[in-house]
Order: sequence, then structure tokens, then C-alpha cells
Amino acid sequence: MALYTDTVMDHFMHPRNVGEIADADGVGQVGNAKCGDIMKMYLKIKDGVIEDVKFETFGCGSAIASSSMATEMIKGKTIDEALAVTNRQVVEALGGLPAHKLHCSVLAEESIKSAIKNYYDRNGIEYDHSKFPDDCGEVESCRMV
Ligand code: FES
Repeated sequence: MALYTDTVMDHFMHPRNVGEIADADGVGQVGNAKCGDIMKMYLKIKDGVIEDVKFETFGCGSAIASSSMATEMIKGKTIDEALAVTNRQVVEALGGLPAHKLHCSVLAEESIKSAIKNYYDRNGIEYDHSKFPDDCGEVESCRMV
């Protein structure tokens, strides 16, 4: 059996929503301290809806496929719907990931949360800090996932 599903390979070879949003309303960056991979997520939000999303991932194929799929899953959704997206849902949508690559999908979930947290911070919106990952400019300061 192939290690990676056709869907994973498709999103790795042809990632959706790659890039930067210069005037993003929320930007999040998370990293995995073990492997050093970094994921950055940009959100354009209007009336509580994610109108556009782009990502930049400096990381493995599974991280790229996970971030690509995650952006597809949250585009056009409300902030609350995006916050409810879990790494397990991303993995399911990809048709699975090898066990030792599951942590890569966690970056996708956390980068979405981190970008929404940044949006909240910029707009002075109250939120429960314990439900959000730490931001990181440097991977060393990021939490292990
Ligand atoms: Fe680091 Fe995949 S090996 S995110």
C-alpha cells in the first residue's frame, strides 16, 4: 500500500492557496520545535467570515498537504467554524496520513488558530487564551507538537 494517498500527493504537488495576503486581517505562525518546520497562515476576514486564506509552509510534504487542505476547509467559513476544524478532520479529508506524520497536520490546525488569535488581538476582541497556541517568530520558542 502506498504511504501517501492520492489526495495527499495532489495537495503536495498542487497546493491550494499558497502565498501571502499583504493586507491580511490576521496572520499566524506556528512551528514544530522537533523537526523545525514552520507554517504561516494569512486570513482576510469580513463580517466574521473568512473571505480569503493563504499559507506559506517551510516544511515537509505532509505539512504542505495539510495546510493546503486546511485552507480549502476554512475558506468561506465563519471564524467559529474555522476554529472548530481539528487536525483529525484535516487528516480525514486527506484520506489519512502515516502515523509518524500526524503531527504535521497539527501545524495546520494551530496555524489557523494562531491567525484568528492575531485577528482578535488586532481588533481588541476578548478570547480564551488557553484555547490558542503560542505565536512564534522563531521556531525555538514554539511549542512541541
Ligand atoms: Fe515537521 Fe512534517 S515533519 S511538520
